[in-house]
Amino acid sequence: MNVFRKKSVEVIIRESESGQGDGHGTSAMHRVLTTRDLTLMGIAAVVGAGIFSTIGEASYDGGPGIILLFLFVAVACGFSALCYAEFASMVPVSGSAYTYSYVAFGEIFAWIIGWDLLMEYAIGNIAVAISWSDYFTGLINRTKIGSTQLHFPEYLSTDYWTAKAQKTPEAIAAWTGAPNIGSAKLICDLPACLITVVITWIIYIGIKESKRTTNAMVVLKLAIIALVMIFGVFYVDTNNWSNFLPNGIPGVLKGTAAVFFAYIGFDAISTTAEECKNPQRDLPRAMFYSLIVCTIVYIVIALVLTGMVSYKDLKVGDPLAFVFGRIDSKWAHYLSGVIAVGAVIATASVLLVFQLGQPRIWMSMSRDGLLPPIFSKVHKKYKTPSFSTVLTGFIVGIPAMFLNLDEVVKLTSVGTLFAFVLVCGGIVRFHSDPNRPPSKFKAPYVNGKYIVPLMFIVTAVLVYTFNKEGLMGLLNVSDAGWSEKVPYLAFGAIFLTTAIFSFLKSFSLIPIIGFLSCSYLLCESGTTNWQRFLVWLAVGLVIYFMYGYKNSRLRKMERAAASNN
Ligand code: ALA
Repeated sequence: MNVFRKKSVEVIIRESESGQGDGHGTSAMHRVLTTRDLTLMGIAAVVGAGIFSTIGEASYDGGPGIILLFLFVAVACGFSALCYAEFASMVPVSGSAYTYSYVAFGEIFAWIIGWDLLMEYAIGNIAVAISWSDYFTGLINRTKIGSTQLHFPEYLSTDYWTAKAQKTPEAIAAWTGAPNIGSAKLICDLPACLITVVITWIIYIGIKESKRTTNAMVVLKLAIIALVMIFGVFYVDTNNWSNFLPNGIPGVLKGTAAVFFAYIGFDAISTTAEECKNPQRDLPRAMFYSLIVCTIVYIVIALVLTGMVSYKDLKVGDPLAFVFGRIDSKWAHYLSGVIAVGAVIATASVLLVFQLGQPRIWMSMSRDGLLPPIFSKVHKKYKTPSFSTVLTGFIVGIPAMFLNLDEVVKLTSVGTLFAFVLVCGGIVRFHSDPNRPPSKFKAPYVNGKYIVPLMFIVTAVLVYTFNKEGLMGLLNVSDAGWSEKVPYLAFGAIFLTTAIFSFLKSFSLIPIIGFLSCSYLLCESGTTNWQRFLVWLAVGLVIYFMYGYKNSRLRKMERAAASNN
């Protein structure tokens, strides 16, 4: 049983150019996207619920020092982007990390990543849809028509579990105001579902329409963020920064999932490789441009937010609108409203890019026989993967009505980090392979032979010097709380192994830094999320062995070749 069969880059490119199996290959897709479109698409995917919403709670936990986490995550993403860019340039077809893993590690890893990307895109989009709904209902609730104040019922804009917990006034209102259906209460997040339907329809009717919509939304949301930065600077009170790390580094690290979530998206543009005019040149450029713009924007916004009010006030779902709402002036209140509108648009554009990416990954998996052929069916008129697009709409729209935002954000971050780790690992592998496939863009090779072991030693010394107690607690076998320790111990073991192999095999430094920094962020993501993620992977593996393994196109090709010989 060979589950590690690999695809060659030549085969992948040939298949994508010729169309495959059902005659609906992606050569049928329109090549319309340029560097500018892709950069805007990257920004569209990245700037959304993270900066408009989850940054609030992260700043509350970490204080102004949260910018350190934004910087660290940007570095981790930057190194991962270099690896994504190299892969996108080497394998310029749809499928993103899924296709890359097929080339680098073999079929079962490709399946795992494809299944994992479902978590990044579809589950991530559930989070974005929920966050969209929060801002949207907030906007409705601050709107007056004549003398009538509009009000969106809480029980139709809250998930069941949040309402049941009754921890906020909105949740209490949802729980007490919900009509009964038999013995159950009617509580769901209706706008989260409706926005998903609208976005899915836009994507269904075509890539050009999606492109136009995305470009317009990005320009608007950047303009709104610029407004926050420009006007916010005048209200910064530097005293608010004086308590830079109120809860220390642990407080900052509490925001890991939320901050990482804010960066997710630059990788999504690699799913559109077959709709790019020049993917090998444009994809790497666009990934960097979007990441650089977003990092600058995030750091400035984090500084402005934590400078305008005390970090203690930022535990809100709409922090950007909130800080202006607190200023005692009419124009600031208008600005607060404008920001709320901006958030609605920003999060809708994130939804659009991820809804666009998910079907394209399925399409690639279906072409490889790992999913049924209907997943790669391209609509005759609209030239989009029609079945997969509609299915994605259902997979996101229905759970978005019922799930809790925080839980979904954490799960998405774990899934995405896992994909980043594998992509970086793939490039480490290729940089050590003299027969690696040609690629127009290459992450620079810096020999990690001595640097990686040195990094390990320096890190160990620093941890020992500054957090001896924590280190000893971690290594104390008689201590309870093992489940919380496992991720840290696993990271230590991974770091040590990487250092040893780097020394022995002269591993390439850049992908190794991406690999290690994403692995570290993974270990900060919480044991519960890890456990959920592992369950998710197990379900995926069952599906692979029941369908994908048997129907793998590569397996069939190998068997046909063997019987011909
Ligand atoms: N980065 C995306 C957002 O913040 C997922 O909404």
